[in-house]
Amino acid sequence: MAHALASRAPVPCGAVAPVIFSGIQPTGRKHLGNYIGAITQYVAGQDRGDPAIYCIVDLHATTVAYDPVELRERVHDTTAVLLAAGLDPERCILFRQGDVPEHAELCWLLTSVTALGELNRMHQFRDKSAAQRELVSAGLLLYPVLQAADVLAYRAHEVPVGEDQREHLELMRNIAERFNTRFGEGILVVPEHRIPEVGARVRDLQLPERKMSTTGGSDQGTVYLLDEPAAIRRKFKRAVTDSDDPPLLRRGDDKPGVTNLIDILAAVRGTTPASVELELAGARGYGDLKVAVGDAVVERLVPLQERFRAIRADEQALEAVLAAGAAKARATAAATLADVRAAMGVGPP
Ligand code: TYM
Repeated sequence: MAHALASRAPVPCGAVAPVIFSGIQPTGRKHLGNYIGAITQYVAGQDRGDPAIYCIVDLHATTVAYDPVELRERVHDTTAVLLAAGLDPERCILFRQGDVPEHAELCWLLTSVTALGELNRMHQFRDKSAAQRELVSAGLLLYPVLQAADVLAYRAHEVPVGEDQREHLELMRNIAERFNTRFGEGILVVPEHRIPEVGARVRDLQLPERKMSTTGGSDQGTVYLLDEPAAIRRKFKRAVTDSDDPPLLRRGDDKPGVTNLIDILAAVRGTTPASVELELAGARGYGDLKVAVGDAVVERLVPLQERFRAIRADEQALEAVLAAGAAKARATAAATLADVRAAMGVGPP
């Protein structure tokens, strides 16, 4: 899949490959937006990153109302999904955020160079705080600082994410730059986002003006990775398109539903939207596009689902993968924390 980097990541002299880091929440069921926007980039990153580090962010999941027993289940679900999608613990570091206490400590230390006003302005904070019924936790406000700590603890150069994380990545860069200015140039690496050209914002199939999401979208418009094949095909068949007559099988800002279907088809096939448009030029209507994209997604997800069932069944093996990942992650994070503490004058000299 093609990518656009805003600029080259600042890989240090002598290094041959970037450090890649990304995080994923263990909340909700993972959907096609997560898969196309992020998970497929994680898998591709395994062969480019040195290392490629992926984190299941259970601490972030505690910032909204949640059930502790369910959280553990979701961590196992998400770990199994990532492994089924192609992450290989021999070629990447896969771990649980809560196993590496350096993340929480670095979050606190970074609050000293984070402006309250910046946090208040974050769109995700505004949306999520409006949705809370009982308590808007301080953790929700600090969410992006913990996210910055996740990445900065590994001095990562590249962060593969979907479009919705752009604002958090900008804040993370500001925090790293401000830290280096205040406490010493070069202590932290200022990371670059890596947002895919196609599939960075997969849209809800029923409400194509919104992104596909477990919280803000519709159930019928969200394709979950573990949906039955018949349900996947049905959701695509019922996808909202537009009333152009004759139907226009092309992308465009005025055609969010059709554009979304073309982009999804291109992404799962590993081709370009332009070649999908060309292929469908002779199609009679939107029906052909809906069937083609439903079939392509099913073809892609069925093997993933089979692997998921086998992997998810062995919780001990999942815990072993996470523990081994955490041991490797912690070695790097602890070294960064030692430098950060020393620069900030925290703890013994
Ligand atoms: P989360 O778990 O909500 O989403 C995981 C990844 O999926 C992407 N994504 C999408 N991409 C395309 N279309 C969509 N409709 C769509 N919906 C979600 C997200 O952009 C994300 O890349 N804050 C992060 C978790 C995080 C993190 C980090 C990410 C914590 N620490 C450090 C990067 C680096 C989040 O909410 O992910």
